[in-house]
Amino acid sequence: MDASKLGRRTFLKGFGAAAASLVIPAAWDAEPAQARLALDGKRMARFAHITDLHFTNRPQNRYPTSHYHIRQAVADLNKQDLDFVLFTGDMFHFPADMGHEMASLTDALKGLKVPYYCCFGNHDAEGDNVAARKAFMKANIGDQGLSKGDNYYTFSPSAGLRFIMLDTTDVEGDSYHAWTGYMRETQYQWLERTLQAHRDETVFIGMHHPPITPYPMMDKLKFDAKGQQRLLHILNQFPNVQLMFAGHYHFGGRNTFGPAELLLGPSLVEHPHPYRMVEVHEMAKGRGAIAYDWHKLEMHGDEDHACEFGTAGVRSLGLMGLSYNRAGLMTLALPT
Ligand SMILES: [Fe+2]
Ligand SMILES: [Fe+2]
Repeated sequence: MDASKLGRRTFLKGFGAAAASLVIPAAWDAEPAQARLALDGKRMARFAHITDLHFTNRPQNRYPTSHYHIRQAVADLNKQDLDFVLFTGDMFHFPADMGHEMASLTDALKGLKVPYYCCFGNHDAEGDNVAARKAFMKANIGDQGLSKGDNYYTFSPSAGLRFIMLDTTDVEGDSYHAWTGYMRETQYQWLERTLQAHRDETVFIGMHHPPITPYPMMDKLKFDAKGQQRLLHILNQFPNVQLMFAGHYHFGGRNTFGPAELLLGPSLVEHPHPYRMVEVHEMAKGRGAIAYDWHKLEMHGDEDHACEFGTAGVRSLGLMGLSYNRAGLMTLALPT
């Protein structure tokens, strides 16, 4: 089946819900998130999926308080029962500032009490900031097999569960000059080898650009079309790839891609600064379940007002209106 057609159809189905949410704002605090995430069985992982921080200390109107969100998120996350945090790119807003903003973001992230993992997005990778990108990965997530110089890697948060973090800004010549997602052939080959090596585990993938464009009008930002088919061909050989996490579009949704469910993350930088909580359980031999929902940051005073009103607030309102499927449950096939 043509993945792009499947993707658009599913997303367009979500468009009805999105349109409705423009008229009826979501009841953010209607129910405590923890209650909704109550699953039976053995917990395999509980983590936060945060995407599109767009961190910058540079004064600007688009994201006037982005420097504040991650510190607030760290305080918020440290109060919760978590195993780790997953970031899916656009860590920074201005790629050219990475060199001198890195210490500030790293300092904030180091406040987390649990491990965290990240991949890069288009805002982290413009031009030739290759050295800054490698330094950021090394300072923040350690080696993780990155010593050979690429920014893709794998980690296992618990027995039987594996994450593969892709780099969708991986271009020839290490010089990225577009908003679109791209992976070199070497990364596809690495992915195939890595999946072969972990056939006996449940695999989740983290990446910045989702391989499906949510709406046709967003095609300018899309993942490389040839790459989409290459990725689909690889993933179709591995039914143990169950779930994918991505960001980039600044609104949340759910789709399918090959054997996996795809969860598009809401952006932390958009008002009301949401992120996703995910809990994975083994319910019985060979059978698991996943529950997910959104949290929003507690914002205070000037930081809140700056985002809620003005152009930043209007932009966020539109993007949050496009979001759908904020909470859900799904079953998971576990290798036996
Ligand atoms: Fe972004
Ligand atoms: Fe992006």
